[in-house]
Amino acid sequence: MSKRILSCMQPTSHLHLGNYLGALRNWVNLQDEPGSECLYGVVDLHAITQPYERDGLAQATREIAAAYIAGGIDPAKSAIFVQSAVPAHSELMWLLATMAQMGKLERMTQFKDKAGKNAERAGLGLFSYPVLMAADILLYKATHVPVGDDQKQHLELSRELASTFNTRFGVEHFVQPEPYIMGLATRVMSLADGTKKMSKSDPSEKSRINLTDDADTIRKKIKKAQTDAEPLPANVEGLEGRAGADNLVTIYAALAAVSKADVLKGREGQGWGDFKTELADLAVAHLEPITSRMRELLADPAQIDAVLRAGNEKANAIAEKTLSETRDIMGFWG
Ligand code: TYM
Repeated sequence: MSKRILSCMQPTSHLHLGNYLGALRNWVNLQDEPGSECLYGVVDLHAITQPYERDGLAQATREIAAAYIAGGIDPAKSAIFVQSAVPAHSELMWLLATMAQMGKLERMTQFKDKAGKNAERAGLGLFSYPVLMAADILLYKATHVPVGDDQKQHLELSRELASTFNTRFGVEHFVQPEPYIMGLATRVMSLADGTKKMSKSDPSEKSRINLTDDADTIRKKIKKAQTDAEPLPANVEGLEGRAGADNLVTIYAALAAVSKADVLKGREGQGWGDFKTELADLAVAHLEPITSRMRELLADPAQIDAVLRAGNEKANAIAEKTLSETRDIMGFWG
């Protein structure tokens, strides 16, 4: 095995187009790379770092697993596991927390965004979120971590913690994970404001396309998406300083798997109305099969649970071995 690929998503709410284009679609392609082993987690321990519905957590976890499978993750090729079902994540997190510096955690932009103005009242779990994420990755000695652009800083911290540990104990134990930030849509922006990231936590439903949206909703959201008074430009330079316009062209390019320059070819002066109709057709053609497969899967939760149990078993076997080696290196009794 030359590569071990690991990535995860939080079961916080429905996945959106950013999660799909920035992460999931790349995960699907990676599972067919010869010599690579893939593990994809649903990180429910991360999801509880912010207020959540107790009664919806298990179902949200199943929904993310269903989205993985519907999006193309094949459980016969890749393990799909639940973070809280692999206790080693929490234990390794504690061990790494003893080596993580407060100053570095304070500089994490995701913490600053999520804690908002009232950082004093933020929970310790939210503050230490990146340490748990480092544990998720280092536990599997992952070589590559395919994520969207917003996770870069967290990945950097994981790399630092791996090297801090290795230096502290004079070992080559943890692997330095490489971020895999792939494709055109590494940062899909909000449909309502092209300067903001498309995000699950945006209060405006119009800002994102969810994987669970039906065709009609997708069309309506794209129709309302932010653009500007100018028509489509002749080339990519013509998108500069036009965040909303650039976002729609980027989404089109990512869905069609062509470059932005190719999308713009022959469209100089085209109005946004026509372009949006074409973009909506493309988005619906891509997402509809995923949405309907997700619905089928969710109608049979026992089947999803069986996939998760098999994935948990595989994840636990790898994770327990790394944890036991880590405990030995650190000098614990037993
Ligand atoms: P989460 O659940 O917020 O997002 C899941 C994945 O989707 C990507 N993403 C985007 N990509 C492009 N454009 C966007 N607008 C956009 N929004 C989200 C994210 O970069 C991510 O790849 N901290 C992680 C979860 C995590 C994790 C891990 C990831 C926990 N442990 C270990 C990798 C490895 C997160 O919040 O993802």
